[in-house]
Amino acid sequence: MLTIAYVLSALQLLALASPSPAPSSIGVKRVSLTRRQAHNSTAPADIQRITQRIGSTLAKYDVGFDSFSKNSGKPHPLSNNDASNITKRAEGTAYLSPDDNALWTGVMCAGTPLSPFIVGFDTGSASLLLVSSTCTSSDCQGQRLYNPSDSSTSVDRKQKFNLKVTDSETVTGNQYADTVRVAGLEATDQVLGAASSYPKNFNTYSFRPDGRMGMAYQSISAYKAPSFPQNLVSQGVTTEPVFAFRMGTGCELNIGGLDHSAYTGDLVYTPVTTKGFWQVNLDAVQANNKRSVGRVSAIIDTGSPLIIGDRQNVDKLYATIPGSRALSNGLYSVPCDSIPTVRITVSGSAFDINPDLFNQGPVSEGSSQCVGGIVSGPQSKPPQRFWSIGDVFLQNVYSVFDVGNNRVGFGRLV
Ligand SMILES: *[C@@H]1O[C@H](CO)[C@@H](O)[C@H](O)[C@H]1NC(C)=O
Ligand SMILES: *[C@@H]1O[C@H](CO)[C@@H](O)[C@H](O)[C@H]1NC(C)=O
Repeated sequence: MLTIAYVLSALQLLALASPSPAPSSIGVKRVSLTRRQAHNSTAPADIQRITQRIGSTLAKYDVGFDSFSKNSGKPHPLSNNDASNITKRAEGTAYLSPDDNALWTGVMCAGTPLSPFIVGFDTGSASLLLVSSTCTSSDCQGQRLYNPSDSSTSVDRKQKFNLKVTDSETVTGNQYADTVRVAGLEATDQVLGAASSYPKNFNTYSFRPDGRMGMAYQSISAYKAPSFPQNLVSQGVTTEPVFAFRMGTGCELNIGGLDHSAYTGDLVYTPVTTKGFWQVNLDAVQANNKRSVGRVSAIIDTGSPLIIGDRQNVDKLYATIPGSRALSNGLYSVPCDSIPTVRITVSGSAFDINPDLFNQGPVSEGSSQCVGGIVSGPQSKPPQRFWSIGDVFLQNVYSVFDVGNNRVGFGRLV
């Protein structure tokens, strides 16, 4: 089936087939972002998919925690004692979610000459993953493959990698360093993993990105190597050492500068507290102006569709919402006719979540209760110690990731 996103992506690829201009270091560069399915809060919530998304997002963080402890020799401050035991904690399914609706995708190029790939741009991880031309099984059909022998700048790092992608499957492959370009900004010696297999269940989806670009810090990289944004900045390619997402109307990723027409007022910045994830402190989360959740650590994650909090705090938040109910699996419902306005306060400034974006749809067809966009992780001991801030919030703001100054900024969308 040809989806709109697929057609858009195909058009982007056609545009790229013509010779690209030389890399430029002047001003902001834009990448159009697409997602397969628009948010529709009148359609019944897909409970199973939401539950899967919680599991895969948390499993992704476990992979990051694991890499952090391998790379730095100490546990990640947000991880639990048993964080190294990924098998135990990854309750959902995938690190690499086959659920392409959850990812904002766009075009990236790799190699010399440059070949285009559609990747999910993910601030919740730091490893660049593509599929290798050595993957000949039907599971890799339909994906653009990275072939190191087609690229004169490809260097074999002679190192393997393992990424746990589902409860039962791991993708493995070789690490390479190569030229990578996004929107005309080019990094050399960018480390990428080329997977020689892909999980079987992925081929049931009609459209998948070719890979994922992790945009966080080296300390959570499975390759112990700088991420693409870090390389751009350290190689002096960017005018400003930043990248930013606009996911509401006019979806785009800006690299090397900001789109000052995308937001009004001043950007509100908050420092990164541990350079691994884009991890910051939130001052408060509250609904309908009733204070419930105080300061929490949060991972700002463009690869996460929801907001996932720790159970204790999420319970407190919903307790302030009249008519709310706890469902199973860490989900909650609120009355469809009075969706609350949830407010997140960062560095003293409040940002509201549009109730329509908070609303994930009726619990079932015709139900008067709707699933809320803030969920909690599985009940674990010790409890989850952080919040994951994804799309449900990020679509309400212009979000800035400042690699040079290690801070995250939010602006009000115009
Ligand atoms: C949203 O979902 C409802 C119910 O399934 C459907 O009738 C409507 O056409 C959808 N809207 C869009 C814009 O897809
Ligand atoms: C990890 O968890 C599994 C399942 O609970 C358990 O069987 C295994 O022994 C644990 N491994 C470590 C290293 O703790």
